[in-house]
Amino acid sequence: MKTIGIIGGGQLGLMIVEQAQILGAKTICLDPASDAPAFKICDEQIIAKFDDERALEELCQRSNVVTYEFENIPGDLLISLEKKYNIKQGFRPLFDSQDRVREKNNARTNGLPTADFAEVHDMESLIEGVKKIGYPCVFKTRTLGYDGHGQVVLKSEDDIAKAASFLPIPAILEEFIPFDFEASVVMVSDGEQIINFPIGRNIHTDGILDLCIVPAPISETLRKKIETLSKDFMRKCGYKGILTIEFFVKGDEIYFNEMAPRPHNSGHYTIEGCNTNQFMELCRFLLDMELQEPRLLSPTIMKNILGQDLESAEEIAEEKLPNVHVHIYGKTVSKPKRKMGHITFTEMEIAEYEQKWRSRFFQK
Ligand SMILES: Nc1ncnc2c1ncn2[C@@H]1O[C@H](COP(=O)(O)OP(=O)(O)O)[C@@H](O)[C@H]1O
Ligand SMILES: [Mg+2]
Repeated sequence: MKTIGIIGGGQLGLMIVEQAQILGAKTICLDPASDAPAFKICDEQIIAKFDDERALEELCQRSNVVTYEFENIPGDLLISLEKKYNIKQGFRPLFDSQDRVREKNNARTNGLPTADFAEVHDMESLIEGVKKIGYPCVFKTRTLGYDGHGQVVLKSEDDIAKAASFLPIPAILEEFIPFDFEASVVMVSDGEQIINFPIGRNIHTDGILDLCIVPAPISETLRKKIETLSKDFMRKCGYKGILTIEFFVKGDEIYFNEMAPRPHNSGHYTIEGCNTNQFMELCRFLLDMELQEPRLLSPTIMKNILGQDLESAEEIAEEKLPNVHVHIYGKTVSKPKRKMGHITFTEMEIAEYEQKWRSRFFQK
């Protein structure tokens, strides 16, 4: 029996463990929080910080193969570990995604268009950047951003002070794309074959994913364009394992926004919406098994459950309706903007969701 080591024990780790168990693998998770969701069901735990070199090495020693669900592992640590142990995805895709400037340069080099952008690190470069890009534009910290944290939209000179309050942190200034919608694609590569899950449309509220609607409302031509460019990108970069790319879609144009070399929130719908799911295919890759081509089983909608919706989600779970799949991650502390669970509605189109379900959740 093989053991999969997972750096990170959050909800993504939890769902990796669930699928690893179905495939008969053991799991060991490393996380600094003793109440991390994945610890409840994984076989073994290591409670340690993500920069604890000895603990990371211990995880590698006790595993046959190692993956990560947490993105901000210090680079130098993984680089030395991947020489000695089977960290099958390697450090490269993580490194390329850890800095927004590096990430966007890499996307462009490998065939994916991005919004115009400029590097910013002080007041002078901020003003230069605004001059080059124009209003509206988006200021983001280069590293450690998630769920819209560390971002400011600049609409006029009046907003410069808001962005300047973050300085002198390394940052990026991006052209604001007035997109029609956002879409993402989750892929898994074993180095030869690349599979992809059906493209979803993502709706964010306050910078946090709220809904994922599948299939995304795109033409066959645009679907093929996104899939082909994304797979070519993965091949050119030489990435293996799982990769999610987020795009802005405007007419027939697409703009790479960001990528994540781990299972993605927008791919949670695959658990019930597809014949196989993102966590399962990641595990199949890690366990040297052949990948399976994903197929959408029915129109599906995934609704994220933040702290403010936890009670409603628990009530909905009690109703035990067919086609309504409630996942609660078991986090001990609930906060308004914290991801506490998600609900997947299968055989559901957006009109029916709006009519029957929308009012059950917190409205902004
Ligand atoms: N250049 C942009 N133009 C328009 N909207 C943007 C732009 N950058 C970010 N956004 C909006 O903010 C959200 C969060 O930004 P993102 O770069 O994905 O950071 P995070 O790491 O927080 O997910 C995006 O999903 C999108 O809705
Ligand atoms: Mg994002």
